[in-house]
Amino acid sequence: MGEMVSYAVEDGIAEAVIDNPPVNAASHGVRAGLADALARFQGDAGARVLIVRCAGKTFMAGADIKEFGKPMIDPQLPELLKRFDRVDKPIVAAVHGTVLGGGFELALACHYRIADAAARFGFPEVKLGLLPGAGGTQRAPRFAGLATAIDLVTGGGQIGAAAAKDAGLVDAIADGDLAQAARDFARALVSEGKGPRRAGDLPMPEDDPALFDAARKSLGRKMRGQTAPLMALDAIRIGYEGLPFDEALDREYALCRDMVTGPQSRALRHIFAAEREVAKVPGLPADLTPRDVRTAGVIGLGVMGRGIVMALASAGVPVIAVGLDQAHLDAATKAIAKMWSSSVAKGSLAQGEMDARMARITGSTDPADLAAADLVIEAVSEDLGVKQTVFATLGQVTKPGTILASNTSFLDIDTLAAASGRAADVCGMHFFNPAHVMRLLENVRAAETAPDVVATIMAFGKRIGKLPVLSGVCDGFIVNRMLSKRSREAFFLVEEGASPAAIDKVVLDYGFPMGPLALGDLAGLDIQAAARKSRAAKASPRELRADFVEQMVAAGRLGQKTGSGWYAYDETRKASPNPETDALVAAHAERHGLRLREIGADEIRERLLYAMVNEGAKLLDEGIAPRPHEIDVAMVNGLGWPAYTGGPMHWADQIGLDKVLATIERFRAEQGDDYWTPSPLLVRLAGEGRGFYA
Ligand code: CAA
Repeated sequence: MGEMVSYAVEDGIAEAVIDNPPVNAASHGVRAGLADALARFQGDAGARVLIVRCAGKTFMAGADIKEFGKPMIDPQLPELLKRFDRVDKPIVAAVHGTVLGGGFELALACHYRIADAAARFGFPEVKLGLLPGAGGTQRAPRFAGLATAIDLVTGGGQIGAAAAKDAGLVDAIADGDLAQAARDFARALVSEGKGPRRAGDLPMPEDDPALFDAARKSLGRKMRGQTAPLMALDAIRIGYEGLPFDEALDREYALCRDMVTGPQSRALRHIFAAEREVAKVPGLPADLTPRDVRTAGVIGLGVMGRGIVMALASAGVPVIAVGLDQAHLDAATKAIAKMWSSSVAKGSLAQGEMDARMARITGSTDPADLAAADLVIEAVSEDLGVKQTVFATLGQVTKPGTILASNTSFLDIDTLAAASGRAADVCGMHFFNPAHVMRLLENVRAAETAPDVVATIMAFGKRIGKLPVLSGVCDGFIVNRMLSKRSREAFFLVEEGASPAAIDKVVLDYGFPMGPLALGDLAGLDIQAAARKSRAAKASPRELRADFVEQMVAAGRLGQKTGSGWYAYDETRKASPNPETDALVAAHAERHGLRLREIGADEIRERLLYAMVNEGAKLLDEGIAPRPHEIDVAMVNGLGWPAYTGGPMHWADQIGLDKVLATIERFRAEQGDDYWTPSPLLVRLAGEGRGFYA
């Protein structure tokens, strides 16, 4: 018996308990232990029923991701679960926590399922570029019908225990202690003389095959560019169209095995691991105790400040919200209440929960009220002078040890730290708009930020449901600094003759949710013009010359909100090419004596994306990004870089840094300027035949 699974029998009830922390993944020891337990159960006439459950915080959370890419040792999960089908006595899964992937498949291979009321079920495989390879695509539809199975298997989402029971995936919900409830359930099965109930004995549902076409269409939209959801759909269809159960299981596993070695799965698994890696800040002592944050404060209640207040209050943190004056505070409170009320009206938020959130917010117009806060997030206007004054005040009014964080997107936090008079307490916490929705949080370590402040903001970010990534101080930190290089190249490409539609299409085809110019129209070209103005002193002559945004704003074309920007918009905000943009580009070229040319998709893609890769390398060189992981995680979660390409640094590694460097050198020669000076790190790694990742 493997040590990861214990087996015991009492009063005719056998129990196999998996204990493989932290998430009871189906590692080799677990599979071997389960195989052993199954054999003992089968061979023991005194054992009438078997319960499979897990110790610790969760039922099995799937295959052991760390074993992917290595040779798999028998017994493999699909084959092991087939053995469950051959057992002629009932098997009960008793599940709690997150019942995911191979864990859900193990539960479905058991003949009955009893769940803790808080258990959650899902097939997250598609998020790892895979499909459920241990029977999920064949067993789930037999229990839950086609529509629910397609939803779960191709969408990667989760459902709760009650919904799982309604769907037929669970037989009973435990009232109280799960282990005890499972024993009662098992005893009842024996006394009622119930035998095994195998998924393979159930027919595939005779649901409407049109569900497949509808799903294919919707996946094409919602999961654009990803191969796994469509492969998962095909796997369900194989069984639905009549392939015998065991053969369908084999086909499903063969598909899954092929996908493990594919580029999308490798990239998505890289992001899964990197998202966990970024929580472990290099160089921070492991025994560092984070500061206690019971009450937070937010000063400045514009769009960002309000979003941050909402993020904090939604996560259960009491928050002191300080506005400029009463009118500003009232407007913010009203706007927050309006947003939550609309969620209540839509049914996505309970009235009681909204009331609890509102009750956690204490409004004020006096910064001195922040004396009660353990962490204050500054979100006043993006003006260094204004922020310096605020930090000087915060340094005075807050208690010693209170962390002072700026939400600035590009200003120098070291300057703010100096203004506060207590630099060790000062850091950045850069939220992304809308702050109550976006998961990414760039935490910024300034020159004198104390290590326990870094530990606190990383832990606190996780506590409020964000994905914190650490950055050093620079203009734009990780995401905006890299994004500014893409915008720069997009404007240059327009100047050279590429149409906005051609540029956006390349970016969309690569997998981003939106192209850079359509994004500018959505955000508002006035906003972009203001950002350009604030950075004008650092801009090059060519960046200043590519002043399309300023020209459009001067003509009253602010993007979607005025019906005209890069594109023209109808009343439904549907975009079409804008003749005014063509005229503007032509006039710009004539004025500056520029020759427009045809630019192919490859050049557009490489110029937009390699500009970011090169900037990422510079961030590493300068120590702003501690590791390539931070960059990939930040770009995927902050800018919508498609996770299935792994983020810019992983993607560049897959291409080969020598090739990336050669193209960058070519652009440097063609463009005749220093924008394309390759980062020394890129040059060194390419020369050594290495990648950004070891
Ligand atoms: N295999 C190996 N390690 C895993 C794992 C898995 N399936 N799931 C999580 N872990 C590890 C994490 O890497 C992390 O390790 P470190 O502490 O070293 O960083 C640790 O467990 C804790 O994970 P989280 O930080 O994510 O903890 P959490 O409590 O926030 O979340 C969870 C727990 C919901 C289970 C989450 O970890 C999760 O979603 N895991 C992935 C589940 C998954 O994708 N399963 C499908 C696997 S593929 C499969 O099963 C194929 C098949 O059909 C056979």
